[in-house]
Amino acid sequence: MSDRSTQSAVLDAFRAAMRHVAATVYAVTTGRVGERHGILATAVSSLSFEPPSLLVCVNRTASLHEPLACAETFCVNVLGLGNREIAEVFESARGEDRFGVGEWHEVLGVPVLAKAQSYFICRTAHRHEFGTHTIFIGELIDARHRENAAPLTYYDGRYMDISAAPERASR
Ligand SMILES: Cc1cc2nc3c(=O)[nH]c(=O)nc-3n(C[C@H](O)[C@H](O)[C@H](O)COP(=O)(O)O)c2cc1C
Repeated sequence: MSDRSTQSAVLDAFRAAMRHVAATVYAVTTGRVGERHGILATAVSSLSFEPPSLLVCVNRTASLHEPLACAETFCVNVLGLGNREIAEVFESARGEDRFGVGEWHEVLGVPVLAKAQSYFICRTAHRHEFGTHTIFIGELIDARHRENAAPLTYYDGRYMDISAAPERASR
């Protein structure tokens, strides 16, 4: 195999492998009413408890990128099964229209989805560019979690309910 075909095979394997990694879906948002911005993201991870922090990886071509790079605060809304419509609207609409469905409140200057499974309001502590993306590290300034919620999960290119397949889980 040439270097080029090896690289292409590795990329294909990476894509196929990542399609089969179940990921929770988040709506990452910033801005005030009238100029709100948000995207769906799965590249989100908790970072540490001391300080409480998380990271979000955003493509530099995404509409959210510039507003997020300029904002001091942002919100990571964890989407639950009941928020599937939000995910669909975020995929089909753009700009402010993404906030046309669901109850969005402004909390500490950022858009928070009232019925999200959880939300994390963060102050941007650090940004790191890598390849096509910027990694935004946020320190938590507020967080809420709703009990008894199940996450909206993205797997193999579609949304699924992981709690509906317990018989496949090994113990
Ligand atoms: C399930 C799902 C997960 C996504 N995860 C990310 C992500 O982690 N980071 C990212 O930059 N874009 C991600 N995207 C793409 C963005 O949501 C968005 O569609 C893309 O950046 C184009 O957005 P724009 O129309 O606002 O520019 C994801 C899309 C979907 C459907």
